[in-house]
Formats: sequence, structure tokens, C-alpha cells
Amino acid sequence: MLGDGLAPRALCGGNGAPWRGPVTRRGPAMSIYLVTGASSGIGREMAKQLAGDGHTVYAVARRKEALDELAKEAGGRVVPFVCNVTYRDAVHSICLALPTLPDYVILNAGIGRFEPSRGFDFRIHEDTFATNYFGAIHFVDELLPKFIERKSGTFVAVSSLAARRGLPRIAAYGASKAALTWAFESMRAQYSKHGVGFVTVHPGFVDTPMTTGQKGMMFLWPVQRAARHILKRLHKGALDISFPLGMRLITGLLRLLPARLHLALAKRI
Ligand SMILES: NC(=O)c1ccc[n+]([C@@H]2O[C@H](COP(=O)([O-])OP(=O)(O)OC[C@H]3O[C@@H](n4cnc5c(N)ncnc54)[C@H](OP(=O)(O)O)[C@@H]3O)[C@@H](O)[C@H]2O)c1
Repeated sequence: MLGDGLAPRALCGGNGAPWRGPVTRRGPAMSIYLVTGASSGIGREMAKQLAGDGHTVYAVARRKEALDELAKEAGGRVVPFVCNVTYRDAVHSICLALPTLPDYVILNAGIGRFEPSRGFDFRIHEDTFATNYFGAIHFVDELLPKFIERKSGTFVAVSSLAARRGLPRIAAYGASKAALTWAFESMRAQYSKHGVGFVTVHPGFVDTPMTTGQKGMMFLWPVQRAARHILKRLHKGALDISFPLGMRLITGLLRLLPARLHLALAKRI
């Protein structure tokens, strides 16, 4: 059976109560995290901060050298797992290889490519959903039965404020993030009674390799601030972590606009 090699953690809660917050509240101060997309940007910074706070981090990404460097920097608390999350079999293999079932699974690996202003690129849609949506869902598929059995565990999806309303040239990116948010909200409602949490994260612009060279990034946050904010809110038991306030307000307003007004504004971007 999948993930049979995973040892349950003795002190992770697991009292059968509905999910009300992070396991660290009920269990040990030091938790085990799996972070995807840990070789760069927000994922790398979260992994670094978690390890610095004394937690153990299973760091997942494709670039081995980058993961090894992170592990070296983090002084033994980061365990690298080289994996392309778009492949279900690869995710299955690393989940079998995890020394212990994690408390938190932070599904952060993502890609964001601008689409051509003329024509249509099917491949961008396919690749973006393979990474941003299925790359996260593969881990849910593998680990949810184990979390249900243990009666604790938290999945965290790093979505985006770009999921709030359609904008030009990011149809695939916005759609993949909206799908992820929607799936997580549904699963949150379905599985909280089993003690399993589903947290959504909606960042605005964060200064990482993904945004390097982009223009017009309003309310841009340094990556350290974004990672610290996500982890702080996660540990306080937030169900949704959206930031910064300025972008939250703008995207919230966009969401409320009737279609014609949205079109008039969005086509100018
Ligand atoms: N930066 C922003 O402004 C912003 C805003 C909103 C949301 N986000 C979201 O935040 C997350 C992190 O973004 P970031 O800005 O930190 O980007 P980044 O620096 O480009 O990092 C992306 C990470 O995803 C990993 N990744 C990509 N494809 C993968 C695959 N097939 N298998 C395994 N790992 C893969 C990359 O590692 P490898 O290349 O080593 O595999 C890398 O570690 C993404 O989901 C992004 O959509 C970012």
C-alpha cells in the first residue's frame, strides 16, 4: 500500500477531533515539514526559516545542487528529496522514502509563464496545470489516507492572488491557482472532521526568481518577509493567508466587478 513505510508520529495530536489548527498547538513544538519548491524563492526561504527555528524539513525540488546547498546552510535539519512533482510515480517514490510522516505538507512548487499576446499556446496550459495543480494534488493523493488514519496533518497550498480574477496573458497561471484554491476549500470542508487541515496561501508580488525582471509589481514584498508572514499565520491556525493588504483590496475589488467593467479594465493591462 502507498506510503506504508511512513511511521506515524506519536505526539502529533491525533485525538480524532476535527481540525482546528496546526498540530504544533496540540503536539510537539518541533514539527516535520515537507516543502515543495524548496530550491528557490519562497519555498527555499520557508525551509530555511523552519530549519532555523529547529524544525525538520523534507525539501523537495528538481535541482539537486540547490537542495544540497540549502541542506548545507541549514546544518542537518533539511533533508533533500529530488523530485519532479509533475510525475505521480516520482511523488509516490519520495513519499515512500520519507523517514516519518510529516505534520505539514507545504505545496509551493510552481511555475508562471506569460502567454503570447497573439495566438494561443496549449503547452503553457498543460505544463502549468501539471506543476501548479497536479504537482500539489499528487501529494494529497499520497498522504491524505495517512493523515486520515493518524487523524492529523495539514496540507498548505501556495496559490496566488492572481487566482481572484482573470487577467490577460496569465490565463493558465490564474486558472491553475484558482483550481488549487477551489480544491483546497472543498477538501477543507470535507476532511476537517478527520483532523486534516487544508490551508490556502494567496501571495501578491514577492521578490523571487519568478518575478525577476517583471514590471509594475505593486506592493512587492521581500521573500524573507513573505516566508515569515506565511509561517507565522500558519502557526496561528489561519485557514487562508492572503497578503499584502493593498493587493488583497485591489484583487477583492476586481472580483466584485461586473463582467463589462472587468473587461474594460483588464484589457488595458
Ligand atoms: N513570487 C511571486 O510574486 C508569487 C506570487 C504569488 C504566488 N507565488 C507562488 O509561490 C510559489 C513559489 O514561487 P517563487 O516565487 O518562490 O518561485 P521560484 O523562485 O521560481 O521557485 C519555484 C520553485 O518551484 C520548483 N518547481 C518548479 N517546477 C517544479 C517541478 N516540476 N517539480 C518540482 N519542483 C518544481 C522550483 O524548483 P526546481 O526548479 O529546482 O524544480 C523552485 O524551487 C509558486 O507556486 C508561485 O506560483 C509566487
